[in-house]
Amino acid sequence: MAAPAPLLHPDSDPSFAELLALRPQLRMDPLAGLMMEEVPLARIAAAVGTPTWVYSANTLRRRLATLQSALDDARLGAQVHFAVKANPNLAVLRTLGEAGAGADVVSEGELRAARAAGIPASHIVFSGVGKTLAEIRLALAEDIQQINAESAEEVEMISAVATAMGRTARVALRVNPDVDAKTHAKITTGKSENKFGIAIGDAPALYARMATLPGIQPIGVAVHIGSQITAGVSAYRTAYGHLADLVRALRAQGLPVERVDCGGGLGIPYRDEPAPHPAALAGAIQATLGNLGVELMVEPGRWIAGPAGVLLASVILQKQGAERRFVVLDAAMNDLVRPAMYEAWHGIVPVTPADFVAAVAPADVVGPICESGDTFARNRGLPPLEPGSLVAFLDAGAYGAAMSSTYNNRPLAAEVLVDGDRFAVVRERQTQDALLAGQRLPDWFAA
Ligand code: LLP
Repeated sequence: MAAPAPLLHPDSDPSFAELLALRPQLRMDPLAGLMMEEVPLARIAAAVGTPTWVYSANTLRRRLATLQSALDDARLGAQVHFAVKANPNLAVLRTLGEAGAGADVVSEGELRAARAAGIPASHIVFSGVGKTLAEIRLALAEDIQQINAESAEEVEMISAVATAMGRTARVALRVNPDVDAKTHAKITTGKSENKFGIAIGDAPALYARMATLPGIQPIGVAVHIGSQITAGVSAYRTAYGHLADLVRALRAQGLPVERVDCGGGLGIPYRDEPAPHPAALAGAIQATLGNLGVELMVEPGRWIAGPAGVLLASVILQKQGAERRFVVLDAAMNDLVRPAMYEAWHGIVPVTPADFVAAVAPADVVGPICESGDTFARNRGLPPLEPGSLVAFLDAGAYGAAMSSTYNNRPLAAEVLVDGDRFAVVRERQTQDALLAGQRLPDWFAA
């Protein structure tokens, strides 16, 4: 008779201590519990409630500096444009902007957030496969650094808008290099079947056309092959190699190419997966694009912001199901959707010292939302957790709050910035009134 399949395998996951050892912004204080920088997370929960996103300003600064020095060490002189989609919180953008980052934006809202946070228009690039006329108009009115166009149709739109406004748009062409970044299917972007960019083979003709169109200054080329890239940098190298060939071909036609935007996508270890260091990315850029005499830029989001944030949640109750133990939190898939959407693994660490050292047993960690997809983790090793116990989801600073919704009419969670021994609420918890605001009953309903 076959042995029953083992239901429980928590020991294959890293321990709480192993998770913290790789995350210097977090540490377990034997009295105060889990700390972010010099602030106990329990103090934030007491002041602000849960669920709450908490970001470490010094981690944002440190990671931006690490990335910038990797690029500088490779003598690339590359500019870092933070991908605002990863975390559009104004205080986060302000922190990164003050530390020298520009912004990569993909919507009017992101452009306005970057400007409101003080990032100069001359350091903002507008990407995206479907910019509206209004968004193109705003980008030109703000005179941002560059628009990355993704199709022949869009190039014509930009030309028409710019001409009508009496402006010249600096346009880079985003090409699709047909390279497999070996990441999750939902976040790969550089394969020919994906909606992004224009086929690299069509780029020379379109770039030549751009040079003839009124209102357009062709400024360079751009590529972004996917996100959470952890399988080394060989896909980057291949894509950048194609881009370098393209730059040479365009120049051979007498076309000017001043800039190459190398995109984002550098992955981070959520569990214990190997992930490339920025130095490896810088090396791939250097080896392919380093000697072309172009201005270089990169657009990382996750690598900078992911490890800088946690989602703080409270246990509502622990229930013993027919087959498994469920830890039911006050956070749900409307807050952090990554596990439901991409089967993503996030570390879940107890905040109180006693819970941190207690013996663990397998549990499913779930939210209160009415679908089984509202599961953060299965068979996760956790201690017994009383109602009110706090846990922290690790690496929730990118694509966390940014992707939240109000599903089940749950208000958007609060956001807090920690800087040394200070913390401040940088986004208030949405109120119940705010959830209903803006809705109207048609006048045909009885009063
Ligand atoms: N540039 C462009 C044009 C992008 O589309 C993206 C991300 C980035 C830069 C930044 O990529 P990063 O360095 O953060 O990997 N919601 C998903 C990730 C979607 C990424 C979309 N594009 C997740 O939670 O994993």
